[in-house]
Amino acid sequence: MSEQIDSAIEWGRARCAGISDTPKLDAELLLAHCIGKTRSYLYSWPEQQLTHNDWQQFQSLITRRLEPTPIAYLVGEREFFSLGLKTSPAALVPRPETELLVEATLAVCLQQPGADLLELGTGTGAIAIALKVECPTIEIVATDISSHCLELAQLNAVRHKLSIDWIRSDWFTQIDGRFDLIVSNPPYISATDTALEQGDLPAEPIAALSPGPTGLEALEVIIAESPNYLKPGGYLLLEHGYDQENEVAGLMREHGFVNVDCKLDLNGLPRVSLGQLGK
Ligand SMILES: C[S@@+](CC[C@H](N)C(=O)[O-])C[C@H]1O[C@@H](n2cnc3c(N)ncnc32)[C@H](O)[C@@H]1O
Repeated sequence: MSEQIDSAIEWGRARCAGISDTPKLDAELLLAHCIGKTRSYLYSWPEQQLTHNDWQQFQSLITRRLEPTPIAYLVGEREFFSLGLKTSPAALVPRPETELLVEATLAVCLQQPGADLLELGTGTGAIAIALKVECPTIEIVATDISSHCLELAQLNAVRHKLSIDWIRSDWFTQIDGRFDLIVSNPPYISATDTALEQGDLPAEPIAALSPGPTGLEALEVIIAESPNYLKPGGYLLLEHGYDQENEVAGLMREHGFVNVDCKLDLNGLPRVSLGQLGK
């Protein structure tokens, strides 16, 4: 027994309603993925009958969605900065909020053609790839502690025909030289924050989400070490939690950064801080 498109979406929506804020969208994305069409196709042909295989695959993906498994892991893709990126459970799903970090970094890069940039904790490669697409003259070294993340990031760079140097490193341990910019979206959620148990977060790698009990551990290392890897006047740009602005600004000043500033996201929350190493 099979289903038609509109009734399959309603079936999926009803099941996802308990675990997702966007149950209809989830059902549509998964069904579009199963039949290899766009979401607009679903609206154009609501009465089309699904094949037996497509209906079976859709039911199986909805079951996995309820675990919950993030949509990006089920369809193997996520869009970031208008670029399609492969995803895998080894890497954090790139977030729309992180586009603010890319925009703030681009504003600096566009003033410095040919700048050398280091990205720490690249995950899918989202930040490095978006920066290289938007500003092809910059030279980028991107790192992660996870070899699985680096393999995925490399695949994404090949897909977009980009040249980026990838280094497996525990923050700065394998890094030589000095850069014009260092950028990072490090793990910054406290290990005791109950948010880690909510929504899709339990399905994502804990090392990508939480650095330890305070949530500041990775930010502290990166801010303290960056002056050893930045050229005089170089920039450090960091994503952080909405409630970490003051700690990040204090640490930056303590370690010799000037012109410390914070950018607000679309909800008016302080999410990206930057500073310039004193000359
Ligand atoms: C919040 S995720 C950011 C991923 C990606 N840059 C993004 O914005 O979507 C943090 C990343 O830092 C990496 N990471 C965690 N600890 C690390 C360490 N000690 N050294 C290097 N990378 C680390 C994780 O593997 C993860 O990919």
